[in-house]
Amino acid sequence: MSLTPPRRYWLTGASSGIGASLAEEILKTGAHLAVSSRSTAVLKVLSLRYPGQVLVVPGDLTSSQAVREIGEQIAHEWGSLDTVILNAGTCEYVDVKQFDSSIVEHVVRTNLLASAYCIEAALPLLRKGNAPHLVGVASSVTYLPLPRAEAYGASKAGLRYLFESLRIDLAPEGIEVTVVSPGFVETPLTAKNDFPMPLSWPVAKAARHIFAKLKNRPLEIAFPGLFMAALWPLSKMPNCVKLAIGKRMVRSSPPIRDVP
Ligand SMILES: NC(=O)c1ccc[n+]([C@@H]2O[C@H](COP(=O)([O-])OP(=O)(O)OC[C@H]3O[C@@H](n4cnc5c(N)ncnc54)[C@H](OP(=O)(O)O)[C@@H]3O)[C@@H](O)[C@H]2O)c1
Repeated sequence: MSLTPPRRYWLTGASSGIGASLAEEILKTGAHLAVSSRSTAVLKVLSLRYPGQVLVVPGDLTSSQAVREIGEQIAHEWGSLDTVILNAGTCEYVDVKQFDSSIVEHVVRTNLLASAYCIEAALPLLRKGNAPHLVGVASSVTYLPLPRAEAYGASKAGLRYLFESLRIDLAPEGIEVTVVSPGFVETPLTAKNDFPMPLSWPVAKAARHIFAKLKNRPLEIAFPGLFMAALWPLSKMPNCVKLAIGKRMVRSSPPIRDVP
C-alpha cells in the first residue's frame, strides 16, 4: 500500500491576518508548510504547535537576495513545492494634495516586485512538484478605481496581470494559477481604515473560504459573494459612471475642517 506524501506549501505573509489564518487551515490537513514574513516570532510559534510540519523561512520579500535564499532553503529541505500562495502585502493610501511617489514605490515593491522575486524562486520548485498550483492574493480594488487607492490599486492591478499572463504561459507545463480577490477582511491591515468596510468578513471565515475553494483550482476566488454581486456590474460600467461613483466616495468622507 502506497501512502500519498503530505502536500508541500509555501505561504508568504503567514505572520498576520489572512496568511496566519490560512496557515492554520493548511496545517490542519497535515500538509507541510513553509512560512515567510519579516517577523519570525509568530512563525516559530506555529512550528512549535505543528511539529515536523512547518519550515520557517523568514525574510523581507522586497529583497531579491533574501527571496533567493528562502528558495534555496526550501530547495535544500524539500527539493520541491506543490502549492505556492503569495499573500504578503501592504496598503498605504495616497493624499493627492501632497502626492508622494515613495508611497507608490513602497507599495508596488511590496505587493508586485516582491511577488515577482517569489515567483522566480518558486517556479523551479513547482516544476518538480505534484499537481503544482500557484496562487496570488490580489484584491477586489482592481474592479473599480477608488479614491486614495492609487498606490495600492496600481500594485494589485499589476499583480493581477502578472498572474493572468503567467497562467497562459505556465499552462503547457501543467502549473495552474489562481488569483484571489478579497473584498474587505478584518485584519490588522484594514483595522487602520478610517472608512466603512461594507460586508466585511472575519479573517477566519475568509481563510476557510479561500482554502475550501483552492481545492477546485478556480481561475479566481472573489468574495464575499454579495459584495462581488454589487461590484462586478459596476466594474463593467462606462468610465464616466465609474468616475461618478468614485467622486461620491470622496464626498462621503468626513469634511476636512478649515484651520481658523
Ligand atoms: N484585509 C483585506 O481586507 C484585504 C482585501 C484585499 C486584499 N488583501 C490582501 O491580502 C493580503 C494579506 O493581507 P492582510 O489583510 O492579511 O494583511 P496583514 O494582516 O497586514 O498581513 C500582511 C502579511 O504580509 C507580510 N508582509 C508585509 N510586507 C512584507 C515584506 N516586505 N516581506 C515579507 N512579508 C511581508 C506581513 O508580515 P511582516 O509584517 O511580519 O513582514 C504579514 O504577515 C495582502 O496582499 C492584502 O493586500 C487584503
